[in-house]
Amino acid sequence: MRRIDFDYLVIGGLLLSALYVFLTGLVMDAWGARQFAFHRYAGYLSAALAALHLLFNWSRVRAYLRWRLKRMKARRTPTARSGGVSLPARLSRREFFYVLFAAVGGYILGRSPTGAQRLAPVLEGADVSVLYHRWSSPGRFWPFRAPRWGGRPARYKTYANVERIQLPDPRAFRGLSFEETVEQRRSHRNFRQEPLSLEELSRLVHAAQGITEPRSEFRAAPSAGALYPIEVYVAAHRVTQLPSGIYHYAVREHSLNLLKQGDFRSALMQAGLWQEFLADANVCLILSAIFQRTRWKYRERAYRYIWLEAGHIGQNIYLAATSMGLGACAVGAFHDDQLNELLGIDGEEEAALYLLAVGKI
Ligand SMILES: Cc1cc2nc3c(=O)[nH]c(=O)nc-3n(C[C@H](O)[C@H](O)[C@H](O)COP(=O)(O)O)c2cc1C
Repeated sequence: MRRIDFDYLVIGGLLLSALYVFLTGLVMDAWGARQFAFHRYAGYLSAALAALHLLFNWSRVRAYLRWRLKRMKARRTPTARSGGVSLPARLSRREFFYVLFAAVGGYILGRSPTGAQRLAPVLEGADVSVLYHRWSSPGRFWPFRAPRWGGRPARYKTYANVERIQLPDPRAFRGLSFEETVEQRRSHRNFRQEPLSLEELSRLVHAAQGITEPRSEFRAAPSAGALYPIEVYVAAHRVTQLPSGIYHYAVREHSLNLLKQGDFRSALMQAGLWQEFLADANVCLILSAIFQRTRWKYRERAYRYIWLEAGHIGQNIYLAATSMGLGACAVGAFHDDQLNELLGIDGEEEAALYLLAVGKI
């Protein structure tokens, strides 16, 4: 291959990468993205190709610059036509239009707001949810994963040296039809003092996060990327064969890990902004999230997915309770710190998201 062939290859590559930088720049701007790995790498490639192109053509560039300099000097040299006076370098018509075009183009581009400028009014409004919503838009378009998003944590949370209560098989039960269940689902806040059976609790946690497809370990509720960031805890008060206490649902084993034994109704009610029915319910299922399970893959979009998943699971619990003739009520109003403390989680790596009180009605 001759030098000129290389040069044409470089020119072709340069044009393609420049086109790519241009298009990804448009996408970035439209989405208000701050980072876009492909854009950056294509930019580096363009710069490298441009340098290579300059190197290949350096003798021509040098010759051109010399010739241009000479002409400019010649224009400034006093002649008989200028009456012996040196004239300022004059632009040709073509040069004039180049300059005009660059100036107008630069002015228009300079005036158009960038992604960051478009976000400025949101920043002023200081509504962090709107800000988050806007900034989390481009997540799924990012093909490269920056290391700062961290690695993939364990799929299952485990506890060493805790008592484990095996739950009965939840699958034989047939409750109301789907249509009846949907029709009858309501939020209930008045519960009877009758105990819940272990079978009923088993069905509730199975509907929340039970494994329904053992081969791939897929669960009852959908999960973005099948990453399952949600953990389920049970605050149990009146369940046959189960001492009162706080439990963690071990998904793979379909069992409960006893974290704290005792009556935590008052603590739960206080954490739940003193909503009394939290203390009356037989059990309260508490959903938490281990954010990194979804974050390592979906980055800033993960936070959206996690809450959506909590909603899916919450509805499964509502429907499972209804189909068994039980009452349920979702609770989103609670003191985060108090609830996290009750569960023994830090509120950062893992935090409580949602409560579902379930009981006899
Ligand atoms: C995200 C969310 C948070 C909720 N938080 C509470 C709560 O803190 N206290 C409560 O009594 N009900 C709470 N609810 C239940 C709603 O009040 C209830 O769903 C609504 O009144 C509609 O009634 P229905 O569920 O019977 O259709 C919550 C529901 C959702 C979806």
